[in-house]
Amino acid sequence: MSLFSYDTIKKVLFKCDPESAHALAGFGFSILEKCPIIRKITSKCFTYEDAILSQELFGTLFKNPIGLGAGFDKNAQYIKAIQTLGFGYTEIGTITPKPQSGNAKPRLFRLIKERSLQNAMGFNNDGMDVIAKRVAKYDNFAFPIGVNIGKNKVTPEDKALSDYEILLKNLSTFGHYVVINISSPNTPGLRDLQNEAFVTQLFTTAKKITQKPILLKIAPDMSEEDALTLCKLALDAGGSGIVATNTTIDYTLSDEAKDFGGISGKLLKEKSRAIFKAVGKEFYDKTLLISVGGIDNAKEAYERIKDGASLVQIYTAFIFKGPYLCKNINTELAELLKADGYTNISQAVGAHWKK
Ligand SMILES: Cc1cc2nc3c(=O)[nH]c(=O)nc-3n(C[C@H](O)[C@H](O)[C@H](O)COP(=O)(O)O)c2cc1C
Repeated sequence: MSLFSYDTIKKVLFKCDPESAHALAGFGFSILEKCPIIRKITSKCFTYEDAILSQELFGTLFKNPIGLGAGFDKNAQYIKAIQTLGFGYTEIGTITPKPQSGNAKPRLFRLIKERSLQNAMGFNNDGMDVIAKRVAKYDNFAFPIGVNIGKNKVTPEDKALSDYEILLKNLSTFGHYVVINISSPNTPGLRDLQNEAFVTQLFTTAKKITQKPILLKIAPDMSEEDALTLCKLALDAGGSGIVATNTTIDYTLSDEAKDFGGISGKLLKEKSRAIFKAVGKEFYDKTLLISVGGIDNAKEAYERIKDGASLVQIYTAFIFKGPYLCKNINTELAELLKADGYTNISQAVGAHWKK
C-alpha cells in the first residue's frame, strides 16, 4: 500500500476547473519548496536512483533522463519541489521579456477519457526580470535547469528577433541549457517563425550572445521533411540540440477538442513519436535530443531513447498519473536497460539506428 494516494487527491483536483487545480497544486508545491523537512520525506518517497540512469550532458550530471516539460513551472517557483518528485531535471518558462497575463480564461481543458489536455495559456509569466532574480539563487544548484524563452504576444513578428536577443542577454547566464520556443500554438504568428531564414538568423545571433547550449523546440504539426530542414539549420548555425515536440493543433484527434490551443498527452503520442523518430534517425549521433509528447510509461520513454533521445520530458502524464510517475518510469527503465545488457543509459541512445 502506498503512503500517498494520488487517486484521492486527483478526485479533489479534478473536481476543480483545470487552472484552479493547477493553482491548488502550485500551493502544495510552494509549501514543499519552502520546507526542507517535507522535501526530505518527499524525496525518499518519490525518488529512484541508479547509476545506470545517470549521464553527464552539457557538462552537468543528469541523475535520470526524466524532465518536467516547460509550462508547468513557468515562473521558476518550484525548482526544489520538482527535484524531490523524482525528476532528473526541469525546464522553466516559457519566459518572455515583459510579464504578460496570457490568453483569456478558460484556456486549459481536460480530455479525461483520452488522458490528454488542451491548453491555450499564451505564455502567462512574470517576465524575465522577476524570474531572473528568482532563478539566480540556483546558480550552483546540483539539479539541471533548462530555461525556455519566447517572444511577447505584443511584439510584432518583424521585431521577434530582438525579443530573443534580450532574453538571451538577460537569462542565458542562468540554468544549464536554453530552449528557444517558436512552436507554441498560443501566441499568434509564433509558429510562422519556424522558417529557414528566421531560424538561421536566430541561432547565428544567439551564438554571439552566449556560450550556453541552445536548443530548438519544434512543433509536431509539420512534415518530417520540414522538421529535418529546420533542425539542420538550427544545428548548422550553432544550436546544441532539439526538443521535439510541443503540443499539436490537430483538432481532429478528438471529438471533444476545442478549435484553439494545443493538445498534449496520449492524443499527441503518435504524432510526436513520429516526428521524433525522423529527427532521431537523422541526428542522434550529431547532437543532443530531447523527446516530449505523450510519454507516460517506461516502455515509451525507452523507445524514445532508442530512437535517439538522451533525455525525455513529461507534463500531461504527470497530471493524470501523479507524483509516483517518475519513480515508476525510472525503476522500470533501469530494469529494461539491464535486461538488454546495457551498463549505462547513454549506450542505448539511438540503439534503433546503430548497426
Ligand atoms: C498547460 C500546458 C502549458 C504548457 N506551456 C508550455 C510553455 O510555456 N512552453 C513550452 O515550450 N511548452 C509548453 N507546454 C508544452 C509541454 O512542455 C510539452 O511540450 C507538451 O505538453 C507535450 O508533452 P506531454 O504530452 O507530456 O504533455 C505546455 C503544456 C501544457 C499542457
